[in-house]
Amino acid sequence: MTTKIKFAVLPGDGIGPEVMKVAIDVLGVAAKKFDFAMEYAWADVGGAGIDNHGKALPDSTVELCKQSDAILFGSVGGPKWEKLPPNEQPERGALLPLRKKFSLFANVRPGLLYAEIADASPLRRERIPNGIDIVCIRELTGGIYFGEKATRILDDGQTESHDTMVYKTSEIERIAQVAIDTARARSKKVTSVDKANVLETSVLWRKTVTAYFAKHAPDIALNHLYVDNAAMQLVRDPNQFDVLFTENMFGDILSDEMSVVCGSLGMMASASLGLGINSHGKRFGLYEPAGGSAPDIAGKGIANPCAQILSSALMLRHSFGLTGAAAAIEKAVKDAVASGTRTGDIAFGGKSVGTAEMAAAIAERL
Ligand code: IPM
Ligand code: MN
Repeated sequence: MTTKIKFAVLPGDGIGPEVMKVAIDVLGVAAKKFDFAMEYAWADVGGAGIDNHGKALPDSTVELCKQSDAILFGSVGGPKWEKLPPNEQPERGALLPLRKKFSLFANVRPGLLYAEIADASPLRRERIPNGIDIVCIRELTGGIYFGEKATRILDDGQTESHDTMVYKTSEIERIAQVAIDTARARSKKVTSVDKANVLETSVLWRKTVTAYFAKHAPDIALNHLYVDNAAMQLVRDPNQFDVLFTENMFGDILSDEMSVVCGSLGMMASASLGLGINSHGKRFGLYEPAGGSAPDIAGKGIANPCAQILSSALMLRHSFGLTGAAAAIEKAVKDAVASGTRTGDIAFGGKSVGTAEMAAAIAERL
């Protein structure tokens, strides 16, 4: 029987809509080849939400997401909305509430750089002769992002603000399980990152992770690093890691570092997995490129669609269990890029193609 997949398409701003359009085309080719049917609807988010509905995350968009089994997300933000108060801006006004509403507690970001385009990395080629292949697992709905926060005026007239970093055992254990599952599909090695020499939450993190792995994953090699050391090691020798596993704030910073070490942002996909199980018995999730809305090149037809296409492959794998189709899309992207079809960001001054042509080369290889 043909599998039917139902997802919400939230293209957002900047290059979001143009890379989303071609990603859907590539999905359509995969659907024919791997015999699944797609049902999807588009909705506004981010700046488009503000312009058309008065807020970054319109109620109608949330409603559509609730009726779907996954969200394919583009990117949000741009200069037009930068003057709004921070929590009304596209990024904070849409992404953080989506994470909270759908309990998207696990952010999975592959740090993948093909050997063929190793020059896209700021690292010297001899440090990464075979490219890079690691993955960052970041806790996404806890820690300092969502703890109690406030600003007040002190008696002496100064202003004081605080943010609180809070974690409880169950939050750490459920993300530890995602790290374990990820490691089992790779080389069974996890590096947990914390600041246990200073932070109470990190002491709990390390203790909980150690006990959980001892009990549930004796087959996985676990080691621990302080976050400052991890930041240094990541740029010194990224491939010493396999699964890099950490809390929300540290993961925000380390995953950005990882993405630049891996070269073009235009190649970086990500998955944010939810607690909820969808109608396919898989995790509800939000899938988005890591690169942002790139307003400077929006509408020119030159944006790299690979990250959006790779994000849709992650959706097929994690939310719909279509692992064959996902792997085929990933291989088609790699083959297209390796054979020399490249957008400007990965062409190093050589011949480059536009968004549509890049996507067509991928579809053809599928
Ligand atoms: C990310 C982004 C977000 C975060 C911002 C836009 C709120 O930087 O997804 O990494 O800090 O989590
Ligand atoms: Mn970030």
